[in-house]
Amino acid sequence: MDQAAFRLILLGIFLISATSDVVKKKQNVKIYSFHINSTVTSRYATTVITSRVGNMLAESQEIHFEVKIPKNAFISKFRMIIDGKTYDGVVKEKGEAKQQYTQAVSRRESAGLVRSVGRTLEDFKTSVTIAALSKVTFELTYEELLKRRLGKYELLINAHPMQPVANFKIDVHIHEQPGISFLDVKGDLSTNDLASAISTTRANKDAWVTFHPTQEQQTTCKGCGENGLNGDLLVTYDVERRNPKGEITVSKGYFVHYFAPTDIPRIPKNVVFIIDRSGSMHGRKIEQTRLALLRILSDLQEDDYFGLITFDSEINVWKRELLKATKANLEDAKSFVLKITERGATDINAAVLKGVNMIKQHPREGTASILILLTDGDPTAGETDTEKIMSNVREATVSKFPLYCLGFGYDVNFEFLTQMSLENNGLARRIYEDSDADLQLQGFYDEVAIPLLSDIQLNYIGVTNLTKTNFSIYFNGSEMVVSGQIMDNNVESFTAEVIAISKGNKVTYQETVMKKDLSDVPPENEKFMERLWAYLTVKQLLERQVLLKGQEKEEEKNYTLQLSIYYEFVTPLTSMVVTKPQEQEVEIADKPKERGESSSPGLALLYDVHRRGLHGQRLTAEPDFDADPWPESSFIMPTYISRISKVLSVAQPTLSVPVVHSNRFFLQAVNQSSPICYDVPLSHKLRLLEDTASEFSMNGESKTSRHGFRQIVFHYKTKHHLIINTKSINYHNGQDNVEFLWGKEPTQHETEGVSLVVRENEMDVTMGNIGVIILLHKKNGNMFLWPAIFEYPKNVNLTGILGKANISYEELHGSDTPTLKIMDKEVKTSWEDVTDYRFQSVSAKGCWLVPFQTVMQGEISDFTVTQL
Ligand SMILES: *[C@@H]1O[C@H](CO)[C@@H](O)[C@H](O)[C@H]1NC(C)=O
Ligand SMILES: *[C@@H]1O[C@H](CO)[C@@H](O)[C@H](O)[C@H]1NC(C)=O
Ligand SMILES: *[C@@H]1O[C@H](CO)[C@@H](O)[C@H](O)[C@H]1NC(C)=O
Ligand SMILES: *[C@@H]1O[C@H](CO)[C@@H](O)[C@H](O)[C@H]1NC(C)=O
Repeated sequence: MDQAAFRLILLGIFLISATSDVVKKKQNVKIYSFHINSTVTSRYATTVITSRVGNMLAESQEIHFEVKIPKNAFISKFRMIIDGKTYDGVVKEKGEAKQQYTQAVSRRESAGLVRSVGRTLEDFKTSVTIAALSKVTFELTYEELLKRRLGKYELLINAHPMQPVANFKIDVHIHEQPGISFLDVKGDLSTNDLASAISTTRANKDAWVTFHPTQEQQTTCKGCGENGLNGDLLVTYDVERRNPKGEITVSKGYFVHYFAPTDIPRIPKNVVFIIDRSGSMHGRKIEQTRLALLRILSDLQEDDYFGLITFDSEINVWKRELLKATKANLEDAKSFVLKITERGATDINAAVLKGVNMIKQHPREGTASILILLTDGDPTAGETDTEKIMSNVREATVSKFPLYCLGFGYDVNFEFLTQMSLENNGLARRIYEDSDADLQLQGFYDEVAIPLLSDIQLNYIGVTNLTKTNFSIYFNGSEMVVSGQIMDNNVESFTAEVIAISKGNKVTYQETVMKKDLSDVPPENEKFMERLWAYLTVKQLLERQVLLKGQEKEEEKNYTLQLSIYYEFVTPLTSMVVTKPQEQEVEIADKPKERGESSSPGLALLYDVHRRGLHGQRLTAEPDFDADPWPESSFIMPTYISRISKVLSVAQPTLSVPVVHSNRFFLQAVNQSSPICYDVPLSHKLRLLEDTASEFSMNGESKTSRHGFRQIVFHYKTKHHLIINTKSINYHNGQDNVEFLWGKEPTQHETEGVSLVVRENEMDVTMGNIGVIILLHKKNGNMFLWPAIFEYPKNVNLTGILGKANISYEELHGSDTPTLKIMDKEVKTSWEDVTDYRFQSVSAKGCWLVPFQTVMQGEISDFTVTQL
């Protein structure tokens, strides 16, 4: 029978017996435990949700896991544990997922889509079929950098397990180096009848919040019932700010600088409100706007100057110029506001240009000027070409003052507003059409009400890969955050300097920071700083996308994608794929862009989760929101990898060293997103790379029972010989011998087509047009070498174990064991992990494991050498 028809019939029956069905369904599934564990270190929050669920039926059934997570967070891990076996999600480029999905649509497969956009949360939903009377553990991890707004940070945790749970708990641990100044627990779970379940413990630098309601409490609390809890816990706090130069924390080669001085006087401001009164603002929207404006006017200080513009297809001004916020002027302005009514079309261009003009005609030393545009629609009158409007506005403001755009409701072109505001140093915010829209408007104004500094520039010496360092205005209650990587760990300190304008005067803050680990970060969380840096970098790169065009846009997109994959963030560019047991299905969690939304502050994104069949055909479908065409393959561009390699080169390796019998290498596929991997037995002297034309060869000898190589030797043009082992590096150029040691200052050596750069634990070798990076990994006293080739020269016939740049394969369907077709041969495969040792910071990847012989088209003996 046609599936849609079948569903309709089922739905009819459910309508009749809806209540009894719900009750029955609940008894079929039992949640044994539901834990949410959130760890915040230096504002970086990592939250793990773990749910253990049992199938109470004597037959297999589908078990669902559904949670809500903050919109600003990136999912970074998802796993299911079934029968002691762990099924881990893998983050991949999204283009491939999209292609699969399009195929699913064309086959009209069943759709069980998930999407939900609230103001602050988004939905993650997945399911798995579990055998009779068996259990599954779901574990989801997400990460976010808490942003300071109106003087506080907010950690939002949603709890909705769908039934009362015997073992339910939320545990929050906050660790802040400068100390926690206040802590508050709010949210709709923080009610009187649940008060006994919440406990707060504070020490100087730490705070713990626990929420352990009994099963009884979960059914009897306000708003709870037989479905248990459903609500939020909101932990708000701020940190001590004793040092006006801000707080700098260093950990494992990365640093973060939080700068939010409070002891400075406010700067008088010049503000122009540009208010849309087109026909679509009719009714509640215009009422709420009037209400918000009246309150905002009351909050202006007497030394502020202000202007009011209303627009539809015509522009009206309260006064032709900015006026001082005196009592009389404010009264007059309020009566103007009360008379604002909606009428015609929307001429955004003329209105904004008018506002810019008013501010420009009113230059005042030592003040901060801002423009606030409120609109609920697309430009429909005057200039309607958004590109043209943006270039007009850019030309008019010449980056002198920020433009904030508030998009009211969902009919606005939010992408346009975001781009226009970012081009003019501001930001765009969505105002949700709701009963509290006036409070949202006022809340936004409060955030920009008290400018303290302008033209802020944060400079650092001795660091690299910085996130954004220029800010146009710093407002009281907010915070500027810069993270970066420390260039040279051997130097003991680095310098931070902040230059800004305060009331027309230049102010400078200078700080010398010791580079040794300043934080007493708990060891299980020691990589948090690098992840914080990656999170902020990816967020800002995504945000910048709307400002870029052409080649630069593509390049940054690629770089952002590679970072997202490396750090396993589910961003709008990536998907998470899980291979499921039994049916071997695969699931995807995406974070797609909402249409008309952009990845700006206040970004509203959503997750959707799809099921896919073996080798990736999706069983569920979802409309395509992202009109932007995406590359189909996730082939990794060599240049970006080397960029990342540089980025990551100071990170410490974190590898485990069990006894191993082979080295596993992987190969990117040109036509697929999953790499191939193959094992090479240990204790062999191997030809790793060779180019007979340029008389180049690289040979390596494996360690005996461990990963990697103990020695790697290069030969070039008969007279150049380079011998690298885990202690030292010897180079002979036919005449002279040069010795380098690992772990020293970077040194460089160049002769006749040979270039050697030795860093602390990484070496670049270039001979002719072949470049190889040799990494020195150490862990638990075990050291080994690992060769990495990021760029394969064109028109060179490279041979050897690492001679292939990539491979192409097909996934074959219909067989019980996964099967690939490689070079016209069918090979059985299995999905395995491979550790990527090509970077200092190692990571595990999923790959299709195939025999060495398939990839290399030969036996291992074809690749062995008698002498290195
Ligand atoms: C929460 O997670 C942290 C970090 O992984 C861990 O150290 C801690 O024991 C966990 N707390 C609970 C209550 O599970
Ligand atoms: C900035 O905010 C803090 C409280 O967060 C307050 O104590 C201070 O007075 C404010 N500064 C100005 C200039 O209003
Ligand atoms: C930051 O501002 C300074 C001074 O205005 C300028 O020279 C520099 O180019 C800016 N940097 C960026 C990344 O915009
Ligand atoms: C970005 O990557 C895609 C494929 O991954 C490639 O086609 C494109 O050329 C790359 N863009 C740039 C600017 O390198």
